[in-house]
Amino acid sequence: MDAYTPTKEDKFTFGLWTVGWPARDPFGDASRAALDPVETVHRLAELGAYGVTFHDDDLLATESDRDKAIRSFKQALSDTGLKVPMATTNLFTHPVFKDGGFTSNDRDVRRYALRKVMRNVDLAAELGATTYVCWGGREGAESDAAKDVRAAMARYKEGMDLLCQYVIDKGYDIRFALEPKPNEPRGDILLPTIGHALAFINELEHPEMVGLNPEVGHEQMAGLNFVHGIAQALWQGKLFHIDLNGQHGPKYDQDLVFGHGDVKSAFFLVDLLENGGYEGPRHFDYKPMRTEDAQDVWVSAAANMRTYLILKAKAAAFRADPEVQEALRDSRVTDLAEPTLAPGESYDDLAKDDFDLDVAAQRGFHFTRLNQLALEHLLGVRG
Ligand code: GCO
Ligand code: MN
Ligand code: MN
Repeated sequence: MDAYTPTKEDKFTFGLWTVGWPARDPFGDASRAALDPVETVHRLAELGAYGVTFHDDDLLATESDRDKAIRSFKQALSDTGLKVPMATTNLFTHPVFKDGGFTSNDRDVRRYALRKVMRNVDLAAELGATTYVCWGGREGAESDAAKDVRAAMARYKEGMDLLCQYVIDKGYDIRFALEPKPNEPRGDILLPTIGHALAFINELEHPEMVGLNPEVGHEQMAGLNFVHGIAQALWQGKLFHIDLNGQHGPKYDQDLVFGHGDVKSAFFLVDLLENGGYEGPRHFDYKPMRTEDAQDVWVSAAANMRTYLILKAKAAAFRADPEVQEALRDSRVTDLAEPTLAPGESYDDLAKDDFDLDVAAQRGFHFTRLNQLALEHLLGVRG
């Protein structure tokens, strides 16, 4: 036990499919055995996690009888006190989803996909989940000739509208969270980024019921700044959930342990989550590397939580450091909160400014000092 040992108050959650990934990839067979969801629940609870999440299909990892699998999962939850804050649907593994679920060109598949989601929404509600994630990993195309994207958007909207209506009619306390991803497994996936998904939500019948579940690696795969994306999602009240993991820039989806990719971005992300008003679970959607054995899986699960707590302490020390506070003022970071027009002013007042263009152009922002202070906190030589 030390300061970085997680407790339930930290609200750390894991997907069954994360630690349970048998490490099959497009080039190689599984390197680990399937995990029993019951064992996973117990191991996560021992490590200090708050909750567990699942795809409908994950529950059947070692059990072919759905009712039995659900019964033993519920028993494990009640034995450990682990919560289920989120659930999701597997609309990507079965070959029937090869052209997508909600946006497959095959109408029968679209209808089956919606039935599959509704069935698991019922279970999610029964287990007390309040967020339902939709990751449309197979919604997309490899050829621009193969998909009428405007029609696909209309079908995506139709699907989300139907699911919102279902939740309303059933009286469930559930909101949906779309998870953007630019590519993999499809060549191009629909709703590829946080920005695309935010814009799509505006077109829905119940935009208030739909937000985002952004994943660190998915924005970084596209070379985008995840911290900026999360900040905008928070500003728009759309950060319903989050998938934390690690990624080294634009390449295949690595799903590394949180902080094991771009650690500086992870530092600023934790700073934002802790200070930006996000109160949801800190959900890890990572994959233990294929090189790891059955014991290493739990080492990697613990590493996600420990890294988060270390970064949380570092971020608090960064914010509390008087030199950082002075540097933030010198860089005028805090000045950005002041509205550009004073109360009662209009655009006419802009003409009255006594403004020296050359002097303003000369003023530096001293961002290097600020960045170095952050780096020194992260590297452990300050605070
Ligand atoms: C990925 C995705 C998936 C989804 C999960 C929920 O790594 O590409 O994040 O892990 O989050 O399957 O549907
Ligand atoms: Mn991923
Ligand atoms: Mn994810």
